[in-house]
Amino acid sequence: MTANARQFMDRVLAAVRETDDHGLLTDRRADGLTGISGLKTVGVLQRLARLFADDPSACYVEIGVFQGLTLISTALEAPALPCFGIDNFATLDPDGVNLSVVNERLARFGTANARLLNMDFEEALGGLDGHLSGRRVGLYFVDGPHDYRSQMVCLLLAKRHLHDHAVIVVDDANYPAVRHATRDFLLGHAGFKLAFEAYSPAHPANLSRDDLLRWEAGWLNGVHVLVTDPEGLLPDMLPPVDDDRTLYFNEWLVHRQQMAELAPEAVALARALCLDDEPEAADRRADLMRRFDQMKTRFSGRFPDRNTKSAGLPEARFNALPEG
Ligand SMILES: C[S@@+](CC[C@H](N)C(=O)[O-])C[C@H]1O[C@@H](n2cnc3c(N)ncnc32)[C@H](O)[C@@H]1O
Repeated sequence: MTANARQFMDRVLAAVRETDDHGLLTDRRADGLTGISGLKTVGVLQRLARLFADDPSACYVEIGVFQGLTLISTALEAPALPCFGIDNFATLDPDGVNLSVVNERLARFGTANARLLNMDFEEALGGLDGHLSGRRVGLYFVDGPHDYRSQMVCLLLAKRHLHDHAVIVVDDANYPAVRHATRDFLLGHAGFKLAFEAYSPAHPANLSRDDLLRWEAGWLNGVHVLVTDPEGLLPDMLPPVDDDRTLYFNEWLVHRQQMAELAPEAVALARALCLDDEPEAADRRADLMRRFDQMKTRFSGRFPDRNTKSAGLPEARFNALPEG
């Protein structure tokens, strides 16, 4: 076991433990730095950023900036650490204000080491080399779309950019797909270990007021902290998941349907119909038809079911060794 690896692990575990005991490291809420991450989640990023503060080969990357709480809080704790926040402002922005809120806050808090990459996370991760100026990602925060594939892609595409000593913080670990993606990633990558996990009893939207106050001061909608551990210092630990994988198998049954993109609205309508809630069903039907009107051109030319979207793909294609 190398002393360096042991020291790094000790420092990561100490930062997480201190956060679990004490929450935020620096509280800037009174200055208007707010967002939708739990205060302990912000606190652990603040403390972990300090571990890389003086490392000229390291940087911080986050997926999911929203209004800048985690990006700016982290950047302020380590002013010499380049910090990159990736967001295309695709969700949670009904009034289209989040980009300007982030830019205003970056300027107001003087975070010269923080940079917003206003683009889709997958595109950004695909071209990350072009932004990092040779640095490696020491601290990586995953807080974008929470479907299984997006979570997994966030982990897989970042892997080759990670620092030898890296920490990955995954937000919203309450969601089953998030837990499953972390678990599958860990099972497939022996050089990473789960150092910490925390959950709350429900999504913040479904908590009582008292519970909400408690979990807002904590890890809110759950968290995973992963750490590089090529020497296997930590024992294996995996996030708990449900044995029933019906929903994942259903993805294939839904995705191949002609109007698969209408699934969220269709399932909401199905719930109202199954519960015999006529007023709710009328609202949900209207939502479904509105969405159908927006998307109907996409559906033409598709089959009712078993769409494979394979027309035009090569009938056969060989790879080959280069000449010489
Ligand atoms: C939960 S919020 C992030 C909260 C933030 N970390 C904070 O400090 O409050 C999730 C963010 O992910 C972003 N997002 C969703 N889909 C995305 C995508 N395909 N590419 C990049 N960002 C995306 C949303 O625009 C949203 O701002």
